[in-house]
Amino acid sequence: MTRLRHRMKGTRMKILLGISGASGAIYGVRAAREILSSGAELHLLVTKTAWEIMAAELPGAPPPASLPARKRWIAALLSAPPGACRLYAEDDFRIPFASGSNSPDAVVIAPCSMGMLGRIAHGVSSSVLERCADVALKERRPLLLVPRETPLSSIHLENMLALSRAGAEIFPACPGFYHHPGSVEEMVDFVVSRVLTRVGIDTALRPRWGEAAGREEKGSKRGERSRQARISRRDS
Ligand SMILES: Cc1cc2nc3c(=O)[nH]c(=O)nc-3n(C[C@H](O)[C@H](O)[C@H](O)COP(=O)(O)O)c2cc1C
Repeated sequence: MTRLRHRMKGTRMKILLGISGASGAIYGVRAAREILSSGAELHLLVTKTAWEIMAAELPGAPPPASLPARKRWIAALLSAPPGACRLYAEDDFRIPFASGSNSPDAVVIAPCSMGMLGRIAHGVSSSVLERCADVALKERRPLLLVPRETPLSSIHLENMLALSRAGAEIFPACPGFYHHPGSVEEMVDFVVSRVLTRVGIDTALRPRWGEAAGREEKGSKRGERSRQARISRRDS
């Protein structure tokens, strides 16, 4: 069960989730589902390239072109009632979070392209999502970025360092393997749960090291048995 750790009396945490044009749209989708299931408000910005990548990477019908149709498509993808997730047009600079007077509790960009990361690092607010990230930095709000690229050039690394120094947190899309993931979803959830825990959303996605008996205990008999069971299921 996903839950919020901190919530001010009578208010819901507002999370702005950006999905930008890097491979790994599933990171954004699973983060969105968890934010919704925590009871936090989910505000969503998806870049033009990210829509294309969603069409290529996600199963099912590709996203439609118009904003109203995209709102319905996203709601269906997230199994959320219409209106539960607030999807904004990627070029609408009038959305609430584009101003420091109305910043969300956190901005998460997952996945985050190197282009997006570089533009945020240099204060280039040419898109609404970049502007919202810029606002998060200037208002000292949490900005969490999940970059996906390999290998990294020194420009990428310097941009990440600049962002980290400016207060952002970088969560590379680098799942661990000590919990013996048995599916792509489990690998994705490892990263998503690290990010969301940071903003106060406790997900049930990933057992913590040392907590779930056997599952993450390196080399434990139980962990080894479950790994073997998965391998034999897969190979049968
Ligand atoms: C199919 C596809 C996959 C891409 N994958 C990545 C990626 O994994 N990482 C990355 O940094 N850029 C990737 N790019 C390049 C970015 O989409 C491009 O730099 C774009 O400017 C990002 O803009 P946005 O972040 O505003 O969506 C990809 C582009 C396409 C079309």
